[in-house]
Amino acid sequence: MADNDFKTAFAPASIGNLGVGFDMLGLAIAGVGDRVSARKVDNAGIVIREVQDPDGNPHPFLSNDAAENTASIAAAALWEALGDGSGVELIVRKGIPLQSGMGSSAASAVAAVVAVNALLNMPLAAPDLLEYALVGEKFASGGLFADNVAPSLVGGLVLCPRVLLPDMIQLPAPDGVSSVLMHPELQVNTAESRKGLARNISVDKWLTQQGLLAGFVAACSQEDIDMLGRCLRDEIVEPQRANAVPCFADAKSAAHAAGALGCSLSGSGPSIFALCRDADASNVAAAMEQACHKMHYDCESWISPLATPGAHVE
Ligand code: HSE
Repeated sequence: MADNDFKTAFAPASIGNLGVGFDMLGLAIAGVGDRVSARKVDNAGIVIREVQDPDGNPHPFLSNDAAENTASIAAAALWEALGDGSGVELIVRKGIPLQSGMGSSAASAVAAVVAVNALLNMPLAAPDLLEYALVGEKFASGGLFADNVAPSLVGGLVLCPRVLLPDMIQLPAPDGVSSVLMHPELQVNTAESRKGLARNISVDKWLTQQGLLAGFVAACSQEDIDMLGRCLRDEIVEPQRANAVPCFADAKSAAHAAGALGCSLSGSGPSIFALCRDADASNVAAAMEQACHKMHYDCESWISPLATPGAHVE
């Protein structure tokens, strides 16, 4: 079989939790993501030919072991359900930094199932690929949550509470709001970060956070940008994780001073996101970067519309 037998899919990075919806709200990002190419091979099973860095060179930190990569694990789940007796070879190109809080493991899993679905001549619609991509994500993060996988798969703003999986709800994205995502040159391991979270919270905190999430979802439906900003808060998880990202407090203050509607950690961090009116996005990004540089951390940022597309075959 030739290299032109490969089907290639791109899956975007994403903001997990989106501050207000721990483990159940996520947003796709434009301009950065992972690619997976897949082709059929004669030998049964899933193999990885190579994991590449963004320039197409062998990845310095990731092995080609198919038992250890979210892409191959997700691809195997789908192939087991719908494949034939042959096998699949994958090439994984990582565009998303590792342990960045940008949904890196989720994007590889999503790109893999979208590429394998294309190899199978598209038997499944995108939302039906969620359960297979989640098998890969669960391996990486140790928990069952779809707040990165779901937006990376279908794009935009997605509500995906565990209690409803594998169903998910694409929320309307209010016009005139952008996301800013800033990645400081730090790493946070999501599985480790989750182990440190308090298992019990007070009813008062639960009521507050429940109200904020309900208000945020309603604000999206009603295109009420002021209410969206008032509700974009995490009273429970952010305070427990903020200290792991030394530049977070200053970046958050800088984002608010530059007009952000709200700002929080992206997933378990270290990336930090803000939502803002479109006209403020460049200033918010510049302010967050400046705050980060002042603390001597290098960083990179991306500005996206809320209605960013999800994964697709290239
Ligand atoms: N929602 C998960 C967490 C993963 O915050 O631990 C986010 O990337």
